[in-house]
Amino acid sequence: MGDVSLSLRSWNKSSDYCSWIGVKCDAKSGKVVSLSFIFIHLNNSFKPNSGLFKLQYLQNLTFYNCYLYGEIPSSLGNFSHLTLLELTQNNFVGPLPASIGNLTQLRYLRLSQNSFSGKIPNSFANLTKLSEVNLDNNYFESTLPPDMSRFHSLEYFSASANSFLGSFPRSFVHESFVEIR
Ligand SMILES: *[C@@H]1O[C@H](CO)[C@@H](O)[C@H](O)[C@H]1NC(C)=O
Ligand SMILES: *[C@@H]1O[C@H](CO)[C@@H](O)[C@H](O)[C@H]1NC(C)=O
Ligand SMILES: *[C@@H]1O[C@H](CO)[C@@H](O)[C@H](O)[C@H]1NC(C)=O
Ligand SMILES: *[C@@H]1O[C@H](CO)[C@@H](O)[C@H](O)[C@H]1NC(C)=O
Ligand SMILES: *[C@@H]1O[C@H](CO)[C@@H](O)[C@H](O)[C@H]1NC(C)=O
Ligand SMILES: *[C@@H]1O[C@H](CO)[C@@H](O)[C@H](O)[C@H]1NC(C)=O
Repeated sequence: MGDVSLSLRSWNKSSDYCSWIGVKCDAKSGKVVSLSFIFIHLNNSFKPNSGLFKLQYLQNLTFYNCYLYGEIPSSLGNFSHLTLLELTQNNFVGPLPASIGNLTQLRYLRLSQNSFSGKIPNSFANLTKLSEVNLDNNYFESTLPPDMSRFHSLEYFSASANSFLGSFPRSFVHESFVEIR
């Protein structure tokens, strides 16, 4: 992937969207289970009522370097089957919506190199299946929710270049890669 014109050409309304580049559907149900856009310069934002949020069977959502901007709307909570959320290298701003706590299947959360800010919502403590979290290079502040002991699967946690205060309990990461500066 990476060839913008090739991708855009495949997004042809008269063809089955399951055949579009970056779109993967479940063979049985026909539901969209994965969207993966990498270096596709969409230059757009997530509107709260976007059709995107109706794809409630999505398991993987990747927008890597897509020139996306604006806040993440609370409709994010519709993705209750999501296991991977990758929004690395965009221009997202503002806090994460509390509804992120609805993404209880989430294992990979990659939000680095954006302009996210504010506190990590308390509902984050709901995301007990997380195994990899990367929050590098944002403006997140304050501390993480206190109850991190529930994160039994966490193997990688990185939050360098933010505005976090205080220290992180090392114990909350198992095999332990923790990097916070
Ligand atoms: C879209 O797909 C249809 C059917 O395959 C084809 O006839 C048409 O040329 C395609 N349009 C574009 C813009 O590629
Ligand atoms: C991105 O979208 C904005 C608003 O629609 C527009 O003003 C700007 O020129 C676009 N930038 C690029 C690189 O397409
Ligand atoms: C969330 O999913 C429900 C069920 O598909 C849908 O009715 C609703 O519009 C979705 N919410 C948003 C904000 O898209
Ligand atoms: C989602 O991503 C994970 C991790 O990269 C991968 O193992 C899995 O097969 C992907 N699932 C789908 C439906 O693409
Ligand atoms: C959380 O997910 C459920 C479905 O699992 C949905 O009915 C509900 O609206 C979602 N809540 C939010 C805040 O998105
Ligand atoms: C936490 O997850 C439960 C389901 O396990 C859900 O009912 C609840 O709404 C979630 N909390 C938040 C704040 O999303």
